[in-house]
Amino acid sequence: MKRQGKRDKWNSSLGFILSAMGSAVGLGNIWRFPTVVALNGGGAFFAIYLVIIFIVGIPTIIAELAIGKKSQHNVVTSFSKIKPDKKNWKGAGYLSMIASFVVLSFYSVIAGWTIIYLAGSISRQLLSGDAQVITRNFEIISQHPYLPIIGQVTFLLFTTIIVIKGISKGIERVNKVLMPGIIVILLILFIRTAFLPGAIQGILWFLKPEITKINFQVALNALGQVFFSFSLGMGAMITYGSYLGHQHNVPKSALIIAVSDLGVAILAGLTIIPALFAFGIPPETGPGLIFVTLPAIFSTLPLNILWASLFFMMLLFAALSSSVSILETSVAYLVDERKWSRTKAAYSMSAGIFALGIPSALSKGKLSGLAILGRNFFDFMDFLASNILLTLAGFLTVVFVGWIWGTKSALIELETNHPFKQKHLWSLAVRYVVPLAIAYIFVTGII
Ligand code: TRP
Repeated sequence: MKRQGKRDKWNSSLGFILSAMGSAVGLGNIWRFPTVVALNGGGAFFAIYLVIIFIVGIPTIIAELAIGKKSQHNVVTSFSKIKPDKKNWKGAGYLSMIASFVVLSFYSVIAGWTIIYLAGSISRQLLSGDAQVITRNFEIISQHPYLPIIGQVTFLLFTTIIVIKGISKGIERVNKVLMPGIIVILLILFIRTAFLPGAIQGILWFLKPEITKINFQVALNALGQVFFSFSLGMGAMITYGSYLGHQHNVPKSALIIAVSDLGVAILAGLTIIPALFAFGIPPETGPGLIFVTLPAIFSTLPLNILWASLFFMMLLFAALSSSVSILETSVAYLVDERKWSRTKAAYSMSAGIFALGIPSALSKGKLSGLAILGRNFFDFMDFLASNILLTLAGFLTVVFVGWIWGTKSALIELETNHPFKQKHLWSLAVRYVVPLAIAYIFVTGII
């Protein structure tokens, strides 16, 4: 491959870690995590989530980064670069690309709501009133005949422009400021919420595992959330890993990415869940949860316009640093292998994603009658992507590393310059624990 010599590399380890964190930390932590915690019984879900992070999540991040680092290629070609006689493994790469399409189609809807809330915060329109008024505001926005589509297309346009310009300069720099920023605002909100009456009850509900509530449905949802939040099963980590230099310490980075992602999720959970109890908002609210609870918390703070505007702006940037990695996955393939220009690839992909996302954008409004397997279109796309496509592609990825490429060869790649102390545990995880856990949870959770 003549391109190989010229292929981009991360400038520094820090640059890579921040970008990978930027991909992992996003709406998945601040929007999706509190929502699935609320829908899945609080502490029971959280306990399983933690277990799955350690036995499935972290080993899989290491596996994806190892594939990328070894192959130095995009997700579709990476498998056959490592094992040239295994052409069929391209299928796993295509599956990942389909997953990225589906995820971005509904991710952009939530990000679109974020844009609308940003505008509504700046113009003060969405911050006043009690919990009921705030809930009603959300209904008006999400059921509007075209507003959600405008938010969605605006977000996709931002994403496309950044992908065309290249990520490193813009988004990478912006992230360094925004990530700490979002954590500071979340901390302020958490402290504010903790003093509201009823909040303690919510904190306990979130942290106390009620073993009786654990079942395979909950486990499947936790598995899907781990994949979604860690940006796994879609080749994002393979793609980012493919820009790594030979000496990079992959296991250490994987741990840093996982711990910071978990930290932001916990902070978001500790902020949103107690607020539900304090304001009497039902946990079953679903995807609109944060858009109802956050304005309610903001309305109790002095300078609420400032905090709300800052918060939604940062959430928007956190979403952008993730969506860019999602779009980049398929753009990298089209540019590398099909020789499309970056501009053509980015615009065509996002046009397709937009088309696929329209029914999701309208799923609370005009298309609320449309149900697939008992879910509205949005919830179905989320379920299909997170619980099925990502976990399936993740399964294939670890089977590839554990059995086709082989953990011995993978460890040679992982151990360059750095001893990997837990290598036996990791091999065990990748060969047995992760595939069996995914297969078991998957099969039992679906039936
Ligand atoms: N992890 C991101 C979030 O939590 C979303 C995301 C980015 C993603 N890249 C991905 C999800 C790849 C699945 C696969 O918001």
